[in-house]
Amino acid sequence: MQAAAVEAYVEAARSLPGNPSSLHWAGRDARRVLENARESIAAAIHAEPGSIVFTSGGTEADNMAVQGVLRQTPPGNIVTTAIEHPAVLQPLARWDDDAHRAAGWSLRRVRPEDDGCVRAAAMIAQIDDETRLVCMMLANNETGAVQPVRQVAEYCRQRGIPMLIDAVQGLGKMALDVDALGADFVALSAHKIGGPRGVGALVIRRGIKLPELAPGGGQERKRRSGTENVPGIAAFAAALEHVDFSATAAMRDSFEETLLQQIPDARIFAWDAVRVANTSMFSVPGLDGETLLMQLDLAGFAVASGSACSSGKRDPSHVLMSMGIKRELARSAIRVSFGPGNRYEDGTALVAALVQARRRLQAMAGMAA
Ligand SMILES: Cc1ncc(COP(=O)(O)O)c(C=O)c1O
Repeated sequence: MQAAAVEAYVEAARSLPGNPSSLHWAGRDARRVLENARESIAAAIHAEPGSIVFTSGGTEADNMAVQGVLRQTPPGNIVTTAIEHPAVLQPLARWDDDAHRAAGWSLRRVRPEDDGCVRAAAMIAQIDDETRLVCMMLANNETGAVQPVRQVAEYCRQRGIPMLIDAVQGLGKMALDVDALGADFVALSAHKIGGPRGVGALVIRRGIKLPELAPGGGQERKRRSGTENVPGIAAFAAALEHVDFSATAAMRDSFEETLLQQIPDARIFAWDAVRVANTSMFSVPGLDGETLLMQLDLAGFAVASGSACSSGKRDPSHVLMSMGIKRELARSAIRVSFGPGNRYEDGTALVAALVQARRRLQAMAGMAA
């Protein structure tokens, strides 16, 4: 977590014992900090403070929009991309089961081009009078590829079709102007910008009503019940105020340059696309991503593999598969995220560790053969 976010968290946790819904002085103090955080976040993303509903993170924000819209509309189609985060794909999948299909629902997942970007025209071609919801991410969480949400949002706005933009990976790393986008829903998460885990927000355009996912005390103007996480929200605002990914793009680029010098057959995904500043996803052919991850872990590096582990079997990344990457290559994918706390030397050290890990794994494979 960013130092400013930790400070804001600790200060709020220590000095604000009240429930922001309480009318006594302690409640009012907590309410003041909560509303200041709301205003500060709203100003940073050009949204109205009243449009921000705090949640437990990006997953809840995505679900709130997806389930909220779809539960109250008649059957029709849903248009999304094949590269969304599971926080969007999983709730949407509920509207794609046999019962929903029989009732007239259909889910249209638009695939990206080889560069990891879905084309706006391809999305728009799928939208028609029966479209009940459009979901598109601002930047992909695996490749970092920035998606053309602005054009799609403009089209949806003109046609009055609800749209959710999952901006979790774009927040703090690229300009985000919610007013200009005009989308009905924008999902955010604090932990991608050095804020606390378990805090996020859904920005809901004025005038739109959604049923609550978990009805209760009617907090957040009856849009999300439950006592607000005041320290977490104060820390979210502080993190956004101090977020600075300006150095990470050059660091990431330098890492990728060194990687290709040292391992010329490495393949960097979405290399041609505009990417957010901190993400690099690549494959070292012939090496299993998970095995490589463990080798790097032993060397002190915390990287992610490109595969999702569910029910004991490992599936290659749905993002890479939808980009037309071969299964074997997708299985060897590794994801690296640079943060403001990283230095150039970290990238160089990671490449050295990759070279060493590859040598070791190849030697082990040779012995086994
Ligand atoms: C694009 C995207 N959407 C949603 C989420 C879920 O956010 P959270 O972890 O705050 O629930 C993530 C998390 O990685 C993400 O990358």
